[in-house]
Amino acid sequence: MLNTEVEKALNAQINAEFWSAYLYLSMSMHFANKGFSGIANWFQIQFKEEQDHATILMNYVNARDGKVTLAPIAEVDTEWCCPLEAFKATLAHEQKVTALINNLNAIAVEEKDYATQNMLQWFINEQVEEEETARGYIDALDKIGDNGYGLYMFDKELAARTYNTPSPLAAKA
Ligand code: FEO
Repeated sequence: MLNTEVEKALNAQINAEFWSAYLYLSMSMHFANKGFSGIANWFQIQFKEEQDHATILMNYVNARDGKVTLAPIAEVDTEWCCPLEAFKATLAHEQKVTALINNLNAIAVEEKDYATQNMLQWFINEQVEEEETARGYIDALDKIGDNGYGLYMFDKELAARTYNTPSPLAAKA
């Protein structure tokens, strides 16, 4: 049986993951509209991954005999001046998500919920990767500046990203 405080925090995290998905879908649509099909592809996959994160958490709540309660998803931005601004927003957002995951883990520690702490380890590691990736793209875009060919090549690189089912879901399939 899931502790009430942990269940509440997990439901808040499920909403945060869906909000992240919606943000990245908005970015994907924006860059598709601006002719950056590679960047649009990258954010489209990010959108899928965030839905996967929510699904992992929902599966977990159900497995622990808890109740998933879906709340409304708040509005997201719809315009970014350039790829650099979008990746800066991505990094800032992922840093916020890291803080939320850490806080969720702290609640699980306080409530002596060892199973939830164990499940959250995957998310804690995932956040390191999420922040590192966004930081890497910010560095690259800083170097590219306004160079059109550089932006063209950057877009081409991001077009190569393919979707992989995250391991906690692959293990369940
Ligand atoms: Fe669900 Fe991008 O963290």
